[in-house]
Amino acid sequence: MLVLKGLRKTFEKGTPNAKLALDDLSLEAAPGDFITVLGSNGAGKSTLFNAILGKFRLDRGKIILNGVDITRLKDYQRALNIGCLFQDPMRGTAPHMTIEENLALAYTRKARHSFFAVNRRDSAYFRELLATLDLGLEDRMKMQMGLLSGGQRQAASLVMATIAAPQLLLLDEHTAALDPGTAEKVLSLTRRLVKEKNLTCLMITHNMQAALEMGNRTIVMDRGRIVLDISGDARAKLSVSDLLQRFQSTSGHALDDDRILLTHSS
Ligand SMILES: Nc1ncnc2c1ncn2[C@@H]1O[C@H](COP(=O)(O)OP(=O)(O)OP(=O)(O)O)[C@@H](O)[C@H]1O
Ligand SMILES: [Mg+2]
Repeated sequence: MLVLKGLRKTFEKGTPNAKLALDDLSLEAAPGDFITVLGSNGAGKSTLFNAILGKFRLDRGKIILNGVDITRLKDYQRALNIGCLFQDPMRGTAPHMTIEENLALAYTRKARHSFFAVNRRDSAYFRELLATLDLGLEDRMKMQMGLLSGGQRQAASLVMATIAAPQLLLLDEHTAALDPGTAEKVLSLTRRLVKEKNLTCLMITHNMQAALEMGNRTIVMDRGRIVLDISGDARAKLSVSDLLQRFQSTSGHALDDDRILLTHSS
């Protein structure tokens, strides 16, 4: 499904500030894998996502999505197949358009329908998804995105990012800026959408408990590498303190994360 082979990225190469952000990182994700991604600040998690999204040129390495080598494709050429959501809910949405229009745009981008081709059934589905959040969004379909609260925008953006059933969904701390209650709702919706659409998903989080509870696999990054990759029984039995201990013994230092959350209520 997704194959990353020896990704290397140095920012400001050839200057005194050169920073090796991805250090020969390799990863294979199977179809339907839901991988949670943990790591210290500056470990290279967002850089990994930006590499997959084609935001910069790699020093070396290969990215293969569904059997297609996308390493040399431009970011906009990859956007059709990769849905993404970041901490800032305004990235990737049009603030002056209504929720309904933004959803329609997300939908038609992939399906290559005309903009107005969203039928009544799709519309009912969007509303139903939004209604499960209990944020009153289903009654605000005609409201401009820019006027919604952070949590409302993030929830609507999540529905948008998954609406066209992308081959891959990348979530970079998408609940970090939300209050605990709203974060929990958005995480539930994340679980539901990934399952219903059988998406392959990578989710960066600082919430260690959520990282172990959500999805089927957890990777931990350190200094541009993946130092732990845990799934199956080993993961099911793992507690947060086990994980911290394993990180320490593998990487030789403690997980240094100023936003680390040890409880589920982030
Ligand atoms: N555009 C850039 N130019 C220069 N350095 C960069 C750039 N983007 C990232 N870096 C550096 O690369 C390293 C990895 O950064 P990255 O944002 O991927 O970390 P992260 O794991 O997402 O951290 P956090 O948990 O704080 O979000 C850091 O040292 C960062 O300063
Ligand atoms: Mg980051």
